[in-house]
Amino acid sequence: MHECPFIPPYPAPLAQKPGLIRRFYLGWCKSWLDMLHGRAYTMKLGVTQLPAGRAFMVNDMALVERVLGDAAHFPKHRMVHDMLAPMIGNSVFVSNGEEWAHQRAMVNPAFVHTNLKRAFPLMAAATRDMIGRMRALVNNSRADAAGGRVVNVDPLMTHVTADVIFRTIFSVELGEAEAGAVYRAFGEYQTVSQRAHLLRLYRLPGFGLGRRARRLGQRVRAVFAPIVEARAAKGRAAGERRDILDALLDARHPVSGVGFTTGELVDQLALIFLAGHETTATSLGWALYLLSECPEMQERLHAEIEAVTGGGPLDYEHVKALDGVRNLYREALRLYPPVGFLPRTSDTPVTMRDKRVGAGELMLVAPWLVQRNPGNWACPHAFAPDRFNTPEGAEALKEAWIPFGKGERICIGAGFAQQEAALILAEVIRNFRLEFPAGRPRPQVVARLTLRPRDGFELVLRAR
Ligand code: HEM
Repeated sequence: MHECPFIPPYPAPLAQKPGLIRRFYLGWCKSWLDMLHGRAYTMKLGVTQLPAGRAFMVNDMALVERVLGDAAHFPKHRMVHDMLAPMIGNSVFVSNGEEWAHQRAMVNPAFVHTNLKRAFPLMAAATRDMIGRMRALVNNSRADAAGGRVVNVDPLMTHVTADVIFRTIFSVELGEAEAGAVYRAFGEYQTVSQRAHLLRLYRLPGFGLGRRARRLGQRVRAVFAPIVEARAAKGRAAGERRDILDALLDARHPVSGVGFTTGELVDQLALIFLAGHETTATSLGWALYLLSECPEMQERLHAEIEAVTGGGPLDYEHVKALDGVRNLYREALRLYPPVGFLPRTSDTPVTMRDKRVGAGELMLVAPWLVQRNPGNWACPHAFAPDRFNTPEGAEALKEAWIPFGKGERICIGAGFAQQEAALILAEVIRNFRLEFPAGRPRPQVVARLTLRPRDGFELVLRAR
């Protein structure tokens, strides 16, 4: 067992910048996190020459502000489209400029359904079902003598977060079979898309990965496409808007007045579905892993939850008062930001520090680096949720905590995700003690579309 705070796993930085071939090997077999050398965590602006062009790593906070704060001149790089289009088409996450502004105007009214108070009962119901699934796993005959059982919490977190967003979008629950299908298909898509991207950066042929990505995209979209088609065909009473799907069916383009085609509608829904669960699921997995290493923190948070609720059910107001749980989740998002890098480009040539960045070149802002930079955070690799209670930590939270991005393109679902995560974590802490299984290797972090554990999160769960 570790002393807390402790340094949770991250790839050991290389002694020096790797060459092109080593870089390719590491990117293919591991991920870009394994290509980082020590100086990458402190440099202000790095540049790497790749066969497809240069990549600038923007790490200095003033430059980060400049790039993320000006979406008109620093739009998303086309790599975002290339990596995500088989899943989410040309939806609001991917588009730029006027097209993005029009799409945002069309989807914004749908986000009233993610209003925190309104969404809370759906989150609470999905969380209750998740606790039921966890209890069933722990209570079955494979539990050890002390009533514990090793469980991979990764698919459980995917199921509950996908269920929450499914209920918010479609007003129906997500079944076990569909949840499993999404978990497997999106898991495979993450590896396929990362490798396809690496091949593009090296100007190598795609070896059929593009086709595989499209097939996997179809498999995820097939989970909900029938619901969309049935609802679109059925019609409903004027003004009745139960959920996100109803609101998007009514959305009209601000200039042309035309609604989404069925294909465009499925793109936007696929985006909201994926952005709305995968990121939250993976960060919850990391938070539970971190907690499993710190039994005394579990007891402290358990006491906080009992004090706030008085032993009764957790309601909307209680979740806002769980400061310790909120700090735990913030720290998990700092150490393992689900979106590891944000690709941008410049619409005109610009000078940044001593470098000239050409129009169209690739710039990357990496929450992983910003949030582990010792210039921004004390002991940046340590797990220390209480850091947010100090004046320096509170300042860094405002300046250099960017798991949801920054500026105009900041995540629409940040409040939704944080409320949902606090509720799920609190219910898990209330119901179970977590332990990291003795003798097992620590989870390894790999960067795909989101920062994933290489082999899931196997933890011992014991019912309280
Ligand atoms: C822990 C959970 C989440 C994380 C870490 C996260 C992270 C992010 C980040 C970093 C961006 C900006 C990307 C960029 O600037 O390139 C983003 C955008 C977005 N997120 Fe999230 N997100 C989360 C949860 C959610 C949820 C729950 C929803 C929906 C309910 C959502 C919907 C969106 C949408 C629609 C955008 C695109 C906004 C735009 O460009 O106009 N996200 N998210």
